Amino acid sequence: MSLREAAVSRTFIQGMPKAELHIHIEGSLEPELMFEIAGRNGVSLRYASVEEARRAYDFSDLQSFLDLYYEGMQVLLNERDFYDLTWAYLQRASAQNVRHAEIFFDPQAHTDRGVPFETVITGIRRALEDGEQQLGISSELIMCFLRHLSAEAAMETLHSSLPFWKWIVAVGLDSSEVGHPPEDFKAVFDEARKHGLLTVAHAGEEGPPEYIWQALDDLKVARIDHGVRCVEDPKLVERLREEQIPLTVCPLSNVKLRVFDSIQDHDLKRMLDLGLCVTVNSDDPAYFGGYIDENFEAAREGLGLSRDDIYRLVKNSFQASFLSAAKKQRLLRELDDYFASRLTGRLR
Ligand code: ADE
Ligand code: ZN
Repeated sequence: MSLREAAVSRTFIQGMPKAELHIHIEGSLEPELMFEIAGRNGVSLRYASVEEARRAYDFSDLQSFLDLYYEGMQVLLNERDFYDLTWAYLQRASAQNVRHAEIFFDPQAHTDRGVPFETVITGIRRALEDGEQQLGISSELIMCFLRHLSAEAAMETLHSSLPFWKWIVAVGLDSSEVGHPPEDFKAVFDEARKHGLLTVAHAGEEGPPEYIWQALDDLKVARIDHGVRCVEDPKLVERLREEQIPLTVCPLSNVKLRVFDSIQDHDLKRMLDLGLCVTVNSDDPAYFGGYIDENFEAAREGLGLSRDDIYRLVKNSFQASFLSAAKKQRLLRELDDYFASRLTGRLR
């Protein structure tokens, strides 16, 4: 095997220091943990076994996934459940050398079932603190509003989260995209920014390029989550390229939810070649067949990504993160050292 091929092997990807910027913590609920928590909480599941749950994860579009996603998370009731969920993700991420994670959570999916906001965020936060101390993973929390619910409900959620803003870096927008344009949430995002929170939004996953324009102009987002449909609009591509707006792309998610027919048809490589600031992420790893490494590996194999492509994707994710300039520099140096050592064989 040539050095070039060896440089992008599975082990090379696994050992790379990396950042994950698009992961829904509730989407990391593996069926094994779902069964364990359901058992101790006395919640009954529609599946007879873990295998049956996995077999049910066969989706036709975003909504068919969301239906199972909201159902699965109903086992989460107590602070310990949110802790265990987050800790399980961090352990997996750590095994893949994720050095920094910016994690979405969907408070309305819990508060609407009667679980207090405080229970949700305290469980997640305690695990994140342990992750920093025991695994060396830094993290940030992004609170998402469910766009299939009203803008008023989002505003109420924003206000009720006030005591916990110290733990939240940004607000986001997720759930059923088509028919729920970003512009509907302008007032909530204005309010969040007024209080110093950053903003991101899912746009251009299933929705049209117009939703990406709205996320930029109305919600003033720092990043677009997914954004793959931007390629349909050359003016939008130009804007995203010029301003280097990061796009948190999730290859396996897009194939599982049929945004692309196959990984070979995914536009990730095309987007990189257009000069866009693209990153690779897992979205809902328990449902889509893989964590960040499996996403890199699928894209590498399916699209023939080069070592330089992979380097750019990882570098983009550190640069697009909400870390301080000093921490970004430290991680970027670590990344450069990793690539340099693997090329010269110094550290192997
Ligand atoms: N919530 C969890 N995963 C999502 C996705 N891929 N798109 C929109 N909302 C989500
Ligand atoms: Zn997502």
